[in-house]
Amino acid sequence: MQPVIRLEGVCKRYGGRPALDGIGLTVGPGEFVALVGGSGSGKTTLLKTLNGLIRPDAGHVAVLGEDVARAARPHVLRRRIGYVFQEIGLFPHRTVAENIAVVPALLDWPTERIVARTAELLQLVGLPVEVKDRLPAALSGGQRQRVGVARALAGEPPLVLMDEPFGALDPIIREPLGADYRALHERLGVTTLMVTHDIAEAVLLADRVVVLKEGRILADGAPAELLSQAADPDVRALLEAPLRQARRLEARFGA
Ligand SMILES: Nc1ncnc2c1ncn2[C@@H]1O[C@H](COP(=O)(O)OP(=O)(O)OP(=O)(O)O)[C@@H](O)[C@H]1O
Ligand SMILES: [Mg+2]
Repeated sequence: MQPVIRLEGVCKRYGGRPALDGIGLTVGPGEFVALVGGSGSGKTTLLKTLNGLIRPDAGHVAVLGEDVARAARPHVLRRRIGYVFQEIGLFPHRTVAENIAVVPALLDWPTERIVARTAELLQLVGLPVEVKDRLPAALSGGQRQRVGVARALAGEPPLVLMDEPFGALDPIIREPLGADYRALHERLGVTTLMVTHDIAEAVLLADRVVVLKEGRILADGAPAELLSQAADPDVRALLEAPLRQARRLEARFGA
């Protein structure tokens, strides 16, 4: 089957310093991949090469069967990729419904289809339909992130890229949002690449974890596989951290 994402030898430098240093990565249809790594390791840069916001200095990037650098109509390709930004990124002066309808409107969907899709998406992401006429400022942080997810899914994209989608949220709302998104991923049959700082989140949600360090892929595999087989001690330490914390919590509560 044709991969959804394929990067080969991708390099990107800023002022002589590599942000991406020879990335090779293939993601197949329906996979849920978590991209983890420290601050500045190149996670956002990698995501942005996939939708053409950043052009690599070397290498090839193909998404949904198209070479991103040579796409005849890059904006058309971009509309087939849902993107949840690291910063919240909703339009502050547009209502929730208008924010969700951005891509469907660009795709020239008829109004009735947009209205129906908006209602369906609000339900999918677990928001009451009444919020549709509110401005983003009148929502909680968690609700805003749910709108961000709804907006990314609005145009029925086969690929969803998420850059720390739940990063700004406290753990209490973060956990159900992550689990809800995972269920949506299954239900809609999309391919998801999600950047996160949170190893526990990556291990719990993703089928596959890719670890980046200084613009290179340090490890790539199923969570259990990485924990038992990763040759790199940094990768082991990273994946063991949430387990150690869980054991300490268990000990403290006598569970
Ligand atoms: N526009 C830019 N100009 C110069 N340097 C940049 C630019 N964008 C990113 N960088 C540098 O490239 C490296 C990778 O940045 P990137 O944003 O991809 O990191 P990240 O892994 O997403 O980090 P974080 O977890 O903090 O979001 C960093 O060293 C960053 O300073
Ligand atoms: Mg980033």
